[in-house]
Amino acid sequence: MGDEWIKIAAPATTSNIGAGFDTFGLAISQPCDIIEGRKIPSGIVISEIDGPGAENITRDASANSVTIAAAEVLKRAGADFGIEVKIHKGIRPGSGMGSSGASAAGGAYLAHVLTDEKLPLSEVILCAASAEGYTSGTMHADNVAPCILGGFTIIRSYEPFEVLRVDPPANLGLVVALPDVVVMTSEARKVLPHEVPVKDLVFHVGHAASLVYAMEHGDLDLIGRSVADVVFEPARAHLIPHLKEAESAAMSNGAIVSFLGGSGPCVMAFYDKSTHKGEHIADAVKKVFNDNGMDCDVWVSECGTGCRRI
Ligand code: HSE
Repeated sequence: MGDEWIKIAAPATTSNIGAGFDTFGLAISQPCDIIEGRKIPSGIVISEIDGPGAENITRDASANSVTIAAAEVLKRAGADFGIEVKIHKGIRPGSGMGSSGASAAGGAYLAHVLTDEKLPLSEVILCAASAEGYTSGTMHADNVAPCILGGFTIIRSYEPFEVLRVDPPANLGLVVALPDVVVMTSEARKVLPHEVPVKDLVFHVGHAASLVYAMEHGDLDLIGRSVADVVFEPARAHLIPHLKEAESAAMSNGAIVSFLGGSGPCVMAFYDKSTHKGEHIADAVKKVFNDNGMDCDVWVSECGTGCRRI
């Protein structure tokens, strides 16, 4: 491979998806980060960062998600070389669209390719999750798992680590709306309750289990009924102005369900591609934010593949 540059596309992801806090994740076909890298004799160097929010991303390789994750893969794979990386952000940090997860997963996957894919993918995911732990304060793999594996993923257990993957239904469409407000995951985790009433636990177990069943069986109506969160989204709702109005607008325009993406502020909507137009939902959600003086980017997207070489 010599000093040939290779390029990895690392997709946006949505996590939690109702009742699956730190557990469920889904890869989104666009937008994505592009991580470029090549072998160097030793060390880890970041030579370029561009794209939305790049000005606030550290070039210190010991503190950047891409290089922390890549270094962990190099270490575990016993590599005798270093890496130079260029980071092209397509996913704005603080969006709830798995921006730090895409950086971490892209960096880990880049190192995985450069080390001739020695590690099992579950270990590559763990390397990326350790970088998430560094940036958000708590190790969580619900963004990096779908970012690497694609599809809908379930973290069955963190210790020992086990991740499962399900193909989402082909007619499941996604609308992603990103209002012009930044919510860092580390901050959004500070507002969460430390204890959960048993009745809320029962609600989450039932909804989480039925979402997995619905994904497996391609039952979009049941997906709609299964995505609900009585603990985490309510605790964070005050961080995202007009969240409830945006979700209602999505529902009035054909979404099967609308919910907070990850730790926010992005608002997600699922819809049936065979019967509805995502553009109507996207326009309606965007209008809620625009009418309240906020900019909002929207993507009419679909479920995506994991990290890939391009
Ligand atoms: N599960 C994490 C959280 C995802 O909600 O804090 C952060 O993107």
